[in-house]
Amino acid sequence: MNNADILMGTNLSKRFDNLEVVKDVSLTVKEGEFVSLVGKSGCGKTTLLSLLSGLEKPTKGKVILNNKDITGASEDELALFRRDHVGFIFQSFNLIPTLSAWENVALPLFPIKMTGEQRSRRAHDLLNQMEMGHRIEHLPGALSGGEKQRVAIARALINNPKIVFADEPTGNLDSVTGEAIMAILNELHKKKGMTMLMVTHAEELAASADRVIRMKDGEVIA
Ligand SMILES: Nc1ncnc2c1ncn2[C@@H]1O[C@H](COP(=O)(O)OP(=O)(O)OP(=O)(O)O)[C@@H](O)[C@H]1O
Ligand SMILES: [Mg+2]
Repeated sequence: MNNADILMGTNLSKRFDNLEVVKDVSLTVKEGEFVSLVGKSGCGKTTLLSLLSGLEKPTKGKVILNNKDITGASEDELALFRRDHVGFIFQSFNLIPTLSAWENVALPLFPIKMTGEQRSRRAHDLLNQMEMGHRIEHLPGALSGGEKQRVAIARALINNPKIVFADEPTGNLDSVTGEAIMAILNELHKKKGMTMLMVTHAEELAASADRVIRMKDGEVIA
């Protein structure tokens, strides 16, 4: 593994029952790189992202993330590892409806030793950076889709992750709102050097990445 490689998947396969959804995929992401993963619906993008981010275990193959071989890790170890090193952004936002915007953002900090004041300040700072300072006390149900995704991005960044995994982050948004969210992600990459692996099936979104990985029927084709 090269020093600058932050993520390396080797010969990854994933089988559900009799269906091989990811087939012998190897790929590497370098620190600071923005990689997009494209392909038709059902080709295995979300599954591959889950393998690479430690959400699911591969049937075969190996994942090294942030210099740690996570393939053999227990579920508890993986949960801790994800909390400390990885940020996630999902198509469906995955906010907790009974918590305010800032409480959603601060949630990943709760297992960490920190005062309530420190947690709150950090969540408020990130929401301000996402231009959400005026919606800090709102519940997710009172936010628009674009606002929900800004909250979700702030939550993904709360632990200063080394890498952010995004699965169709604009998939539930209209095109104008989607462009605004992409602009935020591009800026995080360009100005803060954030490493990002983003799944999309929109070619025009994929094009803004440093590199595009194409999948078809569970395999990487380019
Ligand atoms: N937990 C599971 N159990 C069984 N089959 C699954 C499971 N998860 C995914 N699959 C199957 O694996 C295939 C790939 O699914 P995946 O969600 O990775 O595709 P995708 O490329 O992300 O598609 P989309 O663009 O629609 O999100 C699909 O045929 C799906 O039905
Ligand atoms: Mg998917």
